[in-house]
Amino acid sequence: MAKNVVVLGMQWGDEGKGKIVDFLTGRVQAVVRYQGGHNAGHTIVIGSKKHILHLIPSGILHDNIVNFIGNGVVVSPTALLKEINDLVEQGVTVAGKLYISDACPLLLPYHVALDKARENKSGKAAIGTTLRGIGPAYEDKIARRAIRVCDLLDLDLFTAKLIELAKYHNFILQNYYGAETLDYRQVRDEVLAAATKLRPMIIDVAWELARYQERGASILFEGAQGTFLDIDYGTYPFVTSSNTVAGAAATGSGVGPLDLGYILGIAKAYATRVGAGVHPTELHDEIGEQIRERGKEFGSTTGRPRRCGWLDLVMLKRSTQLNSVKGLGIMKLDVLDTLKEIQLCTAYSLKGEILNYPPTSVELLQHCEPQYEKMPGWQCSTVGIKEFSHLPQAAQNYLRRIEKIIGVPIVMVSTGPEREDTIVIREFLNSL
Ligand code: GDP
Ligand code: IMO
Ligand code: MG
Repeated sequence: MAKNVVVLGMQWGDEGKGKIVDFLTGRVQAVVRYQGGHNAGHTIVIGSKKHILHLIPSGILHDNIVNFIGNGVVVSPTALLKEINDLVEQGVTVAGKLYISDACPLLLPYHVALDKARENKSGKAAIGTTLRGIGPAYEDKIARRAIRVCDLLDLDLFTAKLIELAKYHNFILQNYYGAETLDYRQVRDEVLAAATKLRPMIIDVAWELARYQERGASILFEGAQGTFLDIDYGTYPFVTSSNTVAGAAATGSGVGPLDLGYILGIAKAYATRVGAGVHPTELHDEIGEQIRERGKEFGSTTGRPRRCGWLDLVMLKRSTQLNSVKGLGIMKLDVLDTLKEIQLCTAYSLKGEILNYPPTSVELLQHCEPQYEKMPGWQCSTVGIKEFSHLPQAAQNYLRRIEKIIGVPIVMVSTGPEREDTIVIREFLNSL
Protein backbone atom coordinates (compact mmCIF):
# COMPACT_ATOMS: atom_id res chain seq x y z
CA MET A 1 0.00 0.00 0.00
CA ALA A 2 1.38 3.34 -1.00
CA LYS A 3 2.03 5.89 1.67
CA ASN A 4 0.50 9.27 1.10
CA VAL A 5 1.26 12.43 3.04
CA VAL A 6 -0.65 15.61 3.91
CA VAL A 7 1.43 18.77 4.42
CA LEU A 8 -0.57 21.47 6.16
CA GLY A 9 -0.20 24.70 8.12
CA MET A 10 -0.71 24.59 11.89
CA GLN A 11 -0.89 28.34 12.52
CA TRP A 12 -2.26 31.25 10.44
CA GLY A 13 -0.69 30.37 7.11
CA ASP A 14 2.74 31.10 5.59
CA GLU A 15 4.41 28.48 7.77
CA GLY A 16 6.68 27.39 4.89
CA LYS A 17 4.45 24.70 3.38
CA GLY A 18 5.69 25.42 -0.16
CA LYS A 19 9.30 24.74 0.78
CA ILE A 20 8.45 21.42 2.43
CA VAL A 21 6.13 20.28 -0.37
CA ASP A 22 8.91 20.96 -2.87
CA PHE A 23 11.41 19.15 -0.60
CA LEU A 24 9.19 16.06 -0.33
CA THR A 25 8.06 16.02 -3.95
CA GLY A 26 10.92 13.77 -5.04
CA ARG A 27 9.36 11.03 -2.85
CA VAL A 28 5.89 11.03 -4.41
CA GLN A 29 4.28 10.72 -7.82
CA ALA A 30 1.54 13.35 -7.47
CA VAL A 31 0.92 16.60 -5.60
CA VAL A 32 -2.66 17.77 -4.97
CA ARG A 33 -4.07 21.10 -3.82
CA TYR A 34 -7.40 20.49 -2.08
CA GLN A 35 -8.76 23.84 -0.78
CA GLY A 36 -8.31 27.59 -0.98
CA GLY A 37 -7.50 29.39 -4.19
CA HIS A 38 -5.04 32.01 -5.35
CA ASN A 39 -5.11 33.63 -1.90
CA ALA A 40 -2.26 31.20 -1.15
CA GLY A 41 1.36 32.21 -1.75
CA HIS A 42 3.80 29.32 -1.45
CA THR A 43 7.46 30.21 -1.85
CA ILE A 44 10.13 27.89 -3.18
CA VAL A 45 13.75 29.01 -3.31
CA ILE A 46 16.17 27.08 -5.46
CA GLY A 47 19.58 28.70 -5.66
CA SER A 48 19.13 32.28 -6.80
CA LYS A 49 15.63 31.60 -8.15
CA LYS A 50 12.49 32.28 -6.13
CA HIS A 51 9.08 31.03 -7.25
CA ILE A 52 5.83 32.02 -5.56
CA LEU A 53 2.96 29.67 -6.40
CA HIS A 54 -0.66 30.62 -5.80
CA LEU A 55 -2.95 28.05 -7.41
CA ILE A 56 -0.50 25.62 -8.94
CA PRO A 57 0.74 22.89 -6.58
CA SER A 58 4.32 23.24 -5.33
CA GLY A 59 5.40 20.02 -7.07
CA ILE A 60 5.44 21.79 -10.44
CA LEU A 61 9.17 22.55 -10.36
CA HIS A 62 10.02 18.83 -10.45
CA ASP A 63 9.96 16.75 -13.63
CA ASN A 64 7.96 13.52 -13.79
CA ILE A 65 5.52 14.63 -11.08
CA VAL A 66 1.89 15.25 -11.85
CA ASN A 67 0.13 18.12 -10.10
CA PHE A 68 -3.60 18.22 -9.48
CA ILE A 69 -5.99 21.00 -8.49
CA GLY A 70 -8.69 19.14 -6.59
CA ASN A 71 -12.41 19.89 -6.45
CA GLY A 72 -12.11 21.74 -3.11
CA VAL A 73 -10.15 24.60 -4.71
CA VAL A 74 -11.92 27.68 -6.12
CA VAL A 75 -10.36 28.38 -9.50
CA SER A 76 -10.00 31.69 -11.31
CA PRO A 77 -9.29 30.67 -14.92
CA THR A 78 -7.58 33.99 -15.64
CA ALA A 79 -5.36 33.85 -12.53
CA LEU A 80 -4.48 30.22 -13.28
CA LEU A 81 -3.58 30.95 -16.89
CA LYS A 82 -1.41 33.89 -15.84
CA GLU A 83 0.42 31.70 -13.33
CA ILE A 84 1.00 29.01 -15.95
CA ASN A 85 2.32 31.59 -18.42
CA ASP A 86 4.64 33.12 -15.81
CA LEU A 87 6.10 29.69 -15.02
CA VAL A 88 6.57 28.83 -18.69
CA GLU A 89 8.33 32.17 -19.18
CA GLN A 90 10.74 31.16 -16.39
CA GLY A 91 11.49 27.92 -18.22
CA VAL A 92 9.27 25.60 -16.12
CA THR A 93 7.43 22.88 -18.07
CA VAL A 94 3.74 22.81 -17.21
CA ALA A 95 2.22 20.86 -20.12
CA GLY A 96 1.46 17.28 -19.10
CA LYS A 97 2.24 18.08 -15.45
CA LEU A 98 -0.93 19.91 -14.36
CA TYR A 99 -4.57 18.82 -14.23
CA ILE A 100 -7.65 20.61 -12.90
CA SER A 101 -10.76 18.99 -11.46
CA ASP A 102 -13.88 19.54 -13.53
CA ALA A 103 -15.77 19.92 -10.23
CA CYS A 104 -13.90 23.04 -9.03
CA PRO A 105 -16.17 26.06 -8.50
CA LEU A 106 -15.11 29.00 -10.67
CA LEU A 107 -13.86 32.19 -9.07
CA LEU A 108 -15.10 34.99 -11.34
CA PRO A 109 -14.58 38.77 -11.50
CA TYR A 110 -17.88 39.23 -9.62
CA HIS A 111 -16.33 37.54 -6.61
CA VAL A 112 -13.33 39.84 -6.66
CA ALA A 113 -15.57 42.91 -6.96
CA LEU A 114 -17.71 41.70 -4.04
CA ASP A 115 -14.67 40.93 -1.86
CA LYS A 116 -13.34 44.46 -2.44
CA ALA A 117 -16.71 46.16 -1.96
CA ARG A 118 -17.35 44.28 1.28
CA GLU A 119 -13.92 44.96 2.75
CA ASN A 120 -14.31 48.64 1.82
CA LYS A 121 -17.70 48.91 3.48
CA SER A 122 -16.57 47.07 6.62
CA GLY A 123 -14.11 49.81 7.61
CA LYS A 124 -12.47 48.93 10.92
CA ALA A 125 -14.24 45.56 11.04
CA ALA A 126 -12.62 44.46 7.77
CA ILE A 127 -11.13 40.96 7.77
CA GLY A 128 -8.08 42.03 5.80
CA THR A 129 -8.69 39.43 3.07
CA THR A 130 -6.33 38.98 0.16
CA LEU A 131 -9.04 40.62 -2.03
CA ARG A 132 -8.87 37.67 -4.42
CA GLY A 133 -12.62 36.91 -4.22
CA ILE A 134 -12.23 33.74 -2.16
CA GLY A 135 -15.11 34.29 0.30
CA PRO A 136 -17.73 35.19 -2.33
CA ALA A 137 -16.65 32.26 -4.55
CA TYR A 138 -17.13 29.76 -1.69
CA GLU A 139 -20.45 31.45 -0.84
CA ASP A 140 -21.70 30.62 -4.33
CA LYS A 141 -20.55 27.02 -3.93
CA ILE A 142 -22.40 26.58 -0.63
CA ALA A 143 -25.47 28.41 -1.97
CA ARG A 144 -25.48 25.91 -4.88
CA ARG A 145 -25.31 28.60 -7.55
CA ALA A 146 -21.62 28.31 -8.47
CA ILE A 147 -20.54 27.77 -12.05
CA ARG A 148 -18.04 24.92 -12.14
CA VAL A 149 -15.09 24.05 -14.33
CA CYS A 150 -17.14 21.36 -16.13
CA ASP A 151 -19.58 24.08 -17.24
CA LEU A 152 -16.80 25.70 -19.26
CA LEU A 153 -16.97 22.75 -21.64
CA ASP A 154 -20.47 23.69 -22.83
CA LEU A 155 -20.55 27.24 -24.18
CA ASP A 156 -24.34 27.68 -24.14
CA LEU A 157 -24.73 26.23 -20.69
CA PHE A 158 -21.90 28.39 -19.36
CA THR A 159 -23.40 31.56 -20.88
CA ALA A 160 -26.88 30.81 -19.52
CA LYS A 161 -25.52 30.21 -16.01
CA LEU A 162 -23.33 33.31 -16.20
CA ILE A 163 -26.28 35.54 -17.19
CA GLU A 164 -28.22 34.38 -14.11
CA LEU A 165 -25.23 34.77 -11.79
CA ALA A 166 -24.44 38.21 -13.21
CA LYS A 167 -27.99 39.42 -12.48
CA TYR A 168 -27.72 38.28 -8.88
CA HIS A 169 -24.27 39.67 -8.13
CA ASN A 170 -24.75 42.91 -10.06
CA PHE A 171 -27.89 43.57 -8.03
CA ILE A 172 -25.93 43.29 -4.79
CA LEU A 173 -22.93 45.21 -6.09
CA GLN A 174 -25.12 48.09 -7.23
CA ASN A 175 -27.87 48.21 -4.63
CA TYR A 176 -26.12 47.09 -1.46
CA TYR A 177 -22.55 48.24 -1.98
CA GLY A 178 -23.08 51.10 -4.43
CA ALA A 179 -20.25 49.60 -6.49
CA GLU A 180 -19.74 49.28 -10.23
CA THR A 181 -21.49 46.39 -11.98
CA LEU A 182 -19.78 44.06 -14.45
CA ASP A 183 -21.01 43.33 -17.98
CA TYR A 184 -21.45 39.57 -18.31
CA ARG A 185 -20.29 39.68 -21.96
CA GLN A 186 -16.91 41.02 -20.96
CA VAL A 187 -16.62 38.46 -18.17
CA ARG A 188 -17.69 35.66 -20.55
CA ASP A 189 -15.12 36.59 -23.18
CA GLU A 190 -12.32 36.93 -20.65
CA VAL A 191 -13.10 33.63 -18.92
CA LEU A 192 -13.66 31.68 -22.11
CA ALA A 193 -10.40 32.94 -23.63
CA ALA A 194 -8.56 31.49 -20.62
CA ALA A 195 -10.71 28.36 -20.56
CA THR A 196 -9.79 27.48 -24.14
CA LYS A 197 -6.15 27.24 -23.08
CA LEU A 198 -6.97 25.28 -19.91
CA ARG A 199 -9.29 22.80 -21.63
CA PRO A 200 -6.72 19.99 -22.15
CA MET A 201 -6.01 20.04 -18.39
CA ILE A 202 -9.61 19.53 -17.25
CA ILE A 203 -10.28 16.02 -15.94
CA ASP A 204 -12.09 14.13 -13.18
CA VAL A 205 -9.30 14.39 -10.59
CA ALA A 206 -10.96 12.07 -8.04
CA TRP A 207 -11.14 9.34 -10.67
CA GLU A 208 -7.54 9.88 -11.75
CA LEU A 209 -6.29 9.80 -8.14
CA ALA A 210 -8.07 6.48 -7.66
CA ARG A 211 -5.95 5.13 -10.56
CA TYR A 212 -2.82 6.42 -8.78
CA GLN A 213 -3.92 4.63 -5.62
CA GLU A 214 -4.50 1.38 -7.52
CA ARG A 215 -1.01 1.59 -9.02
CA GLY A 216 0.47 2.01 -5.55
CA ALA A 217 1.70 5.54 -6.31
CA SER A 218 2.24 8.02 -3.46
CA ILE A 219 0.26 11.25 -3.31
CA LEU A 220 1.18 14.43 -1.44
CA PHE A 221 -1.72 16.65 -0.38
CA GLU A 222 -0.67 20.30 -0.17
CA GLY A 223 -2.63 22.42 2.28
CA ALA A 224 -3.14 26.15 1.84
CA GLN A 225 -3.59 28.73 4.63
CA GLY A 226 -3.41 27.31 8.16
CA THR A 227 -5.50 25.66 10.88
CA PHE A 228 -6.57 28.90 12.60
CA LEU A 229 -7.83 30.35 9.32
CA ASP A 230 -10.20 27.35 9.03
CA ILE A 231 -13.86 28.33 8.56
CA ASP A 232 -14.93 26.07 11.47
CA TYR A 233 -11.94 25.98 13.82
CA GLY A 234 -10.23 29.28 13.08
CA THR A 235 -10.62 32.63 14.82
CA TYR A 236 -14.03 33.21 13.21
CA PRO A 237 -14.96 35.54 11.53
CA PHE A 238 -11.30 36.45 10.87
CA VAL A 239 -10.75 33.32 8.79
CA THR A 240 -10.74 32.20 5.20
CA SER A 241 -13.82 30.54 3.68
CA SER A 242 -12.62 26.95 3.37
CA ASN A 243 -11.80 24.13 5.76
CA THR A 244 -8.03 24.13 6.09
CA VAL A 245 -7.80 21.16 8.49
CA ALA A 246 -6.61 17.74 7.34
CA GLY A 247 -10.12 16.41 6.73
CA ALA A 248 -10.40 18.78 3.80
CA ALA A 249 -7.66 16.83 2.00
CA ALA A 250 -10.21 14.03 1.59
CA THR A 251 -13.28 16.09 0.67
CA GLY A 252 -11.27 18.42 -1.55
CA SER A 253 -9.54 15.74 -3.62
CA GLY A 254 -11.87 12.74 -3.71
CA VAL A 255 -9.40 10.46 -1.92
CA GLY A 256 -11.09 8.80 1.07
CA PRO A 257 -10.00 9.74 4.62
CA LEU A 258 -8.33 6.42 5.42
CA ASP A 259 -5.99 6.90 2.46
CA LEU A 260 -4.58 10.28 3.46
CA GLY A 261 -1.58 8.63 5.11
CA TYR A 262 0.90 10.57 7.21
CA ILE A 263 -0.13 14.03 8.43
CA LEU A 264 2.81 16.42 8.61
CA GLY A 265 2.00 19.64 10.47
CA ILE A 266 4.10 22.67 9.53
CA ALA A 267 4.71 25.47 12.05
CA LYS A 268 7.18 28.31 12.34
CA ALA A 269 9.50 28.42 15.36
CA TYR A 270 7.47 31.54 16.27
CA ALA A 271 4.03 32.78 15.19
CA THR A 272 2.86 35.14 12.46
CA ARG A 273 -0.45 36.31 11.15
CA VAL A 274 -1.34 38.58 8.23
CA GLY A 275 -4.66 40.44 8.10
CA ALA A 276 -6.91 41.28 11.05
CA GLY A 277 -7.95 39.02 13.94
CA VAL A 278 -6.77 37.93 17.36
CA HIS A 279 -3.13 36.84 17.78
CA PRO A 280 -2.57 36.20 21.50
CA THR A 281 1.25 36.14 21.46
CA GLU A 282 1.75 39.07 19.07
CA LEU A 283 4.74 41.27 19.95
CA HIS A 284 4.35 45.03 19.57
CA ASP A 285 7.96 45.77 20.48
CA GLU A 286 11.39 45.72 18.86
CA ILE A 287 11.63 41.93 19.19
CA GLY A 288 8.53 41.58 16.99
CA GLU A 289 10.14 44.03 14.58
CA GLN A 290 13.41 42.09 14.63
CA ILE A 291 11.62 38.81 13.83
CA ARG A 292 9.76 40.50 10.94
CA GLU A 293 13.00 41.88 9.50
CA ARG A 294 15.07 38.69 9.91
CA GLY A 295 12.23 36.44 8.76
CA LYS A 296 11.31 38.75 5.87
CA GLU A 297 7.77 38.50 7.18
CA PHE A 298 5.86 40.24 4.43
CA GLY A 299 2.95 38.49 2.65
CA SER A 300 3.86 36.37 -0.40
CA THR A 301 0.55 37.24 -2.06
CA THR A 302 -0.17 40.79 -0.90
CA GLY A 303 3.18 42.10 0.43
CA ARG A 304 1.54 43.15 3.72
CA PRO A 305 3.70 43.05 6.90
CA ARG A 306 3.01 39.93 8.96
CA ARG A 307 2.27 40.35 12.67
CA CYS A 308 4.99 38.44 14.55
CA GLY A 309 4.98 36.92 18.02
CA TRP A 310 6.14 34.04 20.22
CA LEU A 311 5.28 30.43 19.47
CA ASP A 312 1.85 29.63 20.89
CA LEU A 313 1.79 26.03 22.10
CA VAL A 314 -1.84 26.27 23.19
CA MET A 315 -2.76 26.82 19.55
CA LEU A 316 -0.24 24.27 18.30
CA LYS A 317 -1.53 21.54 20.60
CA ARG A 318 -5.08 22.23 19.44
CA SER A 319 -3.88 22.04 15.85
CA THR A 320 -2.27 18.61 16.35
CA GLN A 321 -5.61 17.35 17.66
CA LEU A 322 -7.75 18.84 14.89
CA ASN A 323 -5.46 17.45 12.18
CA SER A 324 -4.27 14.08 13.58
CA VAL A 325 -0.73 15.43 13.17
CA LYS A 326 1.79 12.59 13.33
CA GLY A 327 4.95 14.68 12.95
CA LEU A 328 5.91 18.36 13.16
CA GLY A 329 8.01 20.36 10.73
CA ILE A 330 9.45 23.38 12.56
CA MET A 331 10.39 26.17 10.14
CA LYS A 332 12.56 29.27 10.22
CA LEU A 333 14.54 28.31 13.32
CA ASP A 334 17.36 30.52 11.96
CA VAL A 335 15.18 33.61 12.35
CA LEU A 336 15.53 33.33 16.14
CA ASP A 337 19.36 33.08 15.97
CA THR A 338 20.06 36.56 17.35
CA LEU A 339 17.68 36.53 20.32
CA LYS A 340 19.05 36.47 23.85
CA GLU A 341 15.90 34.98 25.29
CA ILE A 342 13.00 33.15 23.68
CA GLN A 343 9.52 32.76 25.12
CA LEU A 344 7.07 29.91 24.65
CA CYS A 345 3.38 30.33 25.42
CA THR A 346 2.32 27.21 27.30
CA ALA A 347 -1.12 28.25 28.63
CA TYR A 348 -3.58 31.16 28.73
CA SER A 349 -4.97 32.94 31.73
CA LEU A 350 -8.58 34.08 31.41
CA LYS A 351 -10.32 35.87 34.28
CA GLY A 352 -8.05 34.15 36.79
CA GLU A 353 -8.48 30.72 35.27
CA ILE A 354 -5.70 28.79 33.49
CA LEU A 355 -6.68 27.39 30.10
CA ASN A 356 -4.73 24.94 27.96
CA TYR A 357 -7.04 25.21 24.96
CA PRO A 358 -8.20 28.31 23.05
CA PRO A 359 -11.79 29.42 23.74
CA THR A 360 -14.08 29.31 20.70
CA SER A 361 -15.23 32.91 21.01
CA VAL A 362 -12.69 35.39 19.63
CA GLU A 363 -14.00 37.93 22.14
CA LEU A 364 -12.84 35.60 24.94
CA LEU A 365 -9.63 34.69 23.13
CA GLN A 366 -8.84 38.38 22.92
CA HIS A 367 -8.89 38.55 26.70
CA CYS A 368 -6.63 35.53 27.16
CA GLU A 369 -3.24 36.41 28.59
CA PRO A 370 -0.45 34.13 27.37
CA GLN A 371 1.55 32.42 30.11
CA TYR A 372 5.18 32.23 29.05
CA GLU A 373 8.07 29.94 29.74
CA LYS A 374 11.43 31.64 29.13
CA MET A 375 14.32 29.85 27.48
CA PRO A 376 17.82 31.07 26.69
CA GLY A 377 18.53 31.88 23.04
CA TRP A 378 21.56 30.41 21.24
CA GLN A 379 22.87 33.63 19.69
CA CYS A 380 24.78 31.99 16.87
CA SER A 381 23.93 31.06 13.32
CA THR A 382 21.90 27.94 12.54
CA VAL A 383 21.54 28.88 8.86
CA GLY A 384 21.89 25.87 6.61
CA ILE A 385 22.55 23.32 9.40
CA LYS A 386 21.51 19.87 8.16
CA GLU A 387 21.92 17.68 11.27
CA PHE A 388 19.99 18.00 14.52
CA SER A 389 23.09 17.22 16.58
CA HIS A 390 24.94 20.13 14.92
CA LEU A 391 22.42 22.64 16.23
CA PRO A 392 23.53 24.70 19.27
CA GLN A 393 22.45 23.04 22.52
CA ALA A 394 20.03 25.85 23.38
CA ALA A 395 18.28 25.37 20.00
CA GLN A 396 18.04 21.62 20.59
CA ASN A 397 16.57 22.32 24.03
CA TYR A 398 14.02 24.70 22.54
CA LEU A 399 12.89 22.11 19.99
CA ARG A 400 12.79 19.30 22.56
CA ARG A 401 10.67 21.46 24.86
CA ILE A 402 8.15 22.07 22.06
CA GLU A 403 8.01 18.36 21.30
CA LYS A 404 7.50 17.49 24.97
CA ILE A 405 4.63 19.93 25.50
CA ILE A 406 2.89 19.09 22.23
CA GLY A 407 3.44 15.35 22.53
CA VAL A 408 4.19 14.88 18.83
CA PRO A 409 7.70 14.27 17.42
CA ILE A 410 9.50 16.91 15.40
CA VAL A 411 10.50 15.17 12.16
CA MET A 412 11.82 18.13 10.18
CA VAL A 413 13.52 21.42 11.05
CA SER A 414 14.14 24.17 8.52
CA THR A 415 17.18 26.39 8.88
CA GLY A 416 16.93 28.56 5.77
CA PRO A 417 14.69 29.20 2.76
CA GLU A 418 16.53 26.89 0.34
CA ARG A 419 15.71 23.25 -0.34
CA GLU A 420 18.98 22.06 1.20
CA ASP A 421 18.59 24.02 4.45
CA THR A 422 16.58 21.21 5.98
CA ILE A 423 17.10 18.75 8.82
CA VAL A 424 15.18 15.50 8.62
CA ILE A 425 15.28 14.19 12.18
CA ARG A 426 13.57 10.87 11.82
CA GLU A 427 13.44 9.03 8.59
CA PHE A 428 9.69 9.26 8.36
CA LEU A 429 10.34 9.58 4.63
CA ASN A 430 11.07 5.85 4.52
CA SER A 431 7.41 5.17 5.07
CA LEU A 432 6.46 7.10 1.93
P1 GDP B 1 3.68 29.03 2.78
O1 GDP B 1 2.54 29.89 2.38
O2 GDP B 1 3.37 28.18 3.97
O3 GDP B 1 4.23 28.19 1.64
O4 GDP B 1 4.84 30.02 3.24
P2 GDP B 1 5.31 31.36 2.48
O5 GDP B 1 6.04 30.99 1.27
O6 GDP B 1 4.16 32.30 2.33
O7 GDP B 1 6.24 32.01 3.57
C1 GDP B 1 7.37 31.37 4.07
C2 GDP B 1 8.58 32.28 3.82
O8 GDP B 1 9.67 31.82 4.61
C3 GDP B 1 9.09 32.19 2.39
O9 GDP B 1 9.63 33.44 2.04
C4 GDP B 1 10.17 31.12 2.44
O10 GDP B 1 11.16 31.28 1.43
C5 GDP B 1 10.76 31.40 3.80
N1 GDP B 1 11.33 30.25 4.50
C6 GDP B 1 10.88 28.97 4.52
N2 GDP B 1 11.61 28.22 5.38
C7 GDP B 1 12.54 29.05 5.91
C8 GDP B 1 13.56 28.90 6.89
O11 GDP B 1 13.76 27.84 7.48
N3 GDP B 1 14.31 30.01 7.19
C9 GDP B 1 14.10 31.21 6.61
N4 GDP B 1 14.88 32.23 6.96
N5 GDP B 1 13.14 31.40 5.67
C10 GDP B 1 12.36 30.34 5.34
P1 IMO C 1 -0.81 30.45 2.42
O1 IMO C 1 -1.35 29.23 1.71
C1 IMO C 1 -1.63 33.66 5.27
C2 IMO C 1 -5.70 35.27 5.32
C3 IMO C 1 -5.90 36.71 4.88
C4 IMO C 1 -7.08 37.09 5.77
C5 IMO C 1 -7.91 35.82 5.80
C6 IMO C 1 -9.06 35.78 4.80
O2 IMO C 1 0.20 31.20 1.68
O3 IMO C 1 -0.42 30.09 3.82
P2 IMO C 1 -9.15 35.40 2.16
O4 IMO C 1 -8.54 36.17 1.03
O5 IMO C 1 -8.75 33.96 2.20
O6 IMO C 1 -10.64 35.56 2.24
O7 IMO C 1 -8.57 36.10 3.50
O8 IMO C 1 -7.00 34.76 5.50
N1 IMO C 1 -5.01 34.40 4.34
C7 IMO C 1 -3.75 33.98 4.48
N2 IMO C 1 -2.82 34.28 5.40
N3 IMO C 1 -1.36 32.76 4.30
C8 IMO C 1 -2.28 32.43 3.38
O9 IMO C 1 -2.11 31.43 2.49
C9 IMO C 1 -3.54 33.08 3.42
N4 IMO C 1 -4.66 33.01 2.66
C10 IMO C 1 -5.55 33.82 3.25
O10 IMO C 1 -4.77 37.49 5.15
O11 IMO C 1 -6.63 37.33 7.08
MG1 MG D 1 2.10 31.88 2.02
